[in-house]
Amino acid sequence: MGEMKIVGVCGSLRAGSYNKKLLEYAIKLAGEIGAPVKELDLKEYALPYFEAELELPENVKKFKKEVEEAHVLLIASPEYNYSIPGVLKNALDWLSRGGINSLNSKIAVIMGASTGPFGTVRAQANLRQVLACLTVMVLPQPQIFVPFAETAFNPDGSLKDDKTTAMLKRLLLK
Ligand code: FNR
Repeated sequence: MGEMKIVGVCGSLRAGSYNKKLLEYAIKLAGEIGAPVKELDLKEYALPYFEAELELPENVKKFKKEVEEAHVLLIASPEYNYSIPGVLKNALDWLSRGGINSLNSKIAVIMGASTGPFGTVRAQANLRQVLACLTVMVLPQPQIFVPFAETAFNPDGSLKDDKTTAMLKRLLLK
């Protein structure tokens, strides 16, 4: 098999996003174990709202192609009202339609950071359900939840909690 392609997606568009921080830390750790990750920035893609009759816009085509070429997706997402943000759901809906399910048989590694005490536990359960519909195999363990995200990171972007860092490394090694 050729080289494995991994893409990373953050479910938050916020400039100071904790999930972007978490994703970028995971990308750094993955790079250290020889697994480079290409980040696909949803803010840059600026996907329109999904509309079934719409002819596929160029940015949607480009986004779908990047994912189709990938073997693994790394997703770091916030929890919005106990679920995933609309922007991530919209991106997944585009990936699932438009002639081809771009996510078919991919592997996903998911994680999340929230300012609340549960660190996106409900959003991740919800994300697993959506990805199951799209025939994505989400690695079951370890699960990465980063609660109280505003105090969870060191200035260099690493996680303060050694146990979570160790779990993240174990997850990426899979
Ligand atoms: C939130 N937040 C939040 N947190 C949580 O733990 N459970 C939740 O259900 C929600 N719901 C929610 C809805 C909306 C619309 C917003 C804007 C926020 C708080 C959330 O964890 C916090 O804003 C994070 O900082 C969002 O992630 P990013 O943008 O920092 O990656």
